[in-house]
Amino acid sequence: MSRTKVTVVGAGNVGATCAQVLATRDYADVVLVDIKEGLPQGKAIDIAQMGAVLGFEPSITGTNGYGESAGSAVVVITAGVPRGPGMSRDDLVTTNEKIVSAVTEQAVAHSPDAVIVVVSNPLDAMCHVAKSASGLPRERVLSPAFIISPAYGTRSSTVLLVDNRGDVLFVERSFGPRGKPGNSVTARFALETTSTSAPV
Ligand SMILES: NC(=O)c1ccc[n+]([C@@H]2O[C@H](COP(=O)([O-])OP(=O)(O)OC[C@H]3O[C@@H](n4cnc5c(N)ncnc54)[C@H](O)[C@@H]3O)[C@@H](O)[C@H]2O)c1
Repeated sequence: MSRTKVTVVGAGNVGATCAQVLATRDYADVVLVDIKEGLPQGKAIDIAQMGAVLGFEPSITGTNGYGESAGSAVVVITAGVPRGPGMSRDDLVTTNEKIVSAVTEQAVAHSPDAVIVVVSNPLDAMCHVAKSASGLPRERVLSPAFIISPAYGTRSSTVLLVDNRGDVLFVERSFGPRGKPGNSVTARFALETTSTSAPV
């Protein structure tokens, strides 16, 4: 049985870390795509070389194209520019709109059944850009957010998991101060990545 494939677009700080975590979890083949020649290939070699030490079977490919990403169950989009000093997330919108739109079109052309997870900022706007560029129903274009609630000293996060059948699980958790697990696991549900159901 072939393994689930996850593609990460953008091999910078966020993308390379995401690919590394995915590879070490060992539940999916990982494809890392970036526009910079040599960058995703080098990151992929670095991550693969960790396998012997940390005990995972490395299956990671770095590339400047989308051919290797074909058939991905999940495409994580981290491509784009990050904030510089004095910038707000909204200052990124014009540049990142073009990048996110272009990479979404290319990724979906090769992986029409994928769930798209948008990380590039500004998150909510880029999620709409990806939904529009992909033509996918809204339940297949998502953006994870990390919320800090200082009033209660708690944090919550939404975690994306992919199992080896290609199902995508979302687990929302609350954490107490200093990241210690709180009492509540607030939501958990599954989504078939191959679903062709109409948007809800
Ligand atoms: N949602 C969140 O919680 C969160 C957290 C951190 C960063 N971000 C956002 O994620 C994005 C990436 O941040 P980063 O720190 O990794 O930036 P980075 O500069 O380290 O990496 C971005 C990568 O995107 C690549 N890229 C640019 N255009 C591309 C294209 N057309 N095709 C493929 N790759 C392309 C660049 O070559 C670069 O390697 C930023 O927009 C940042 O604001 C979001």
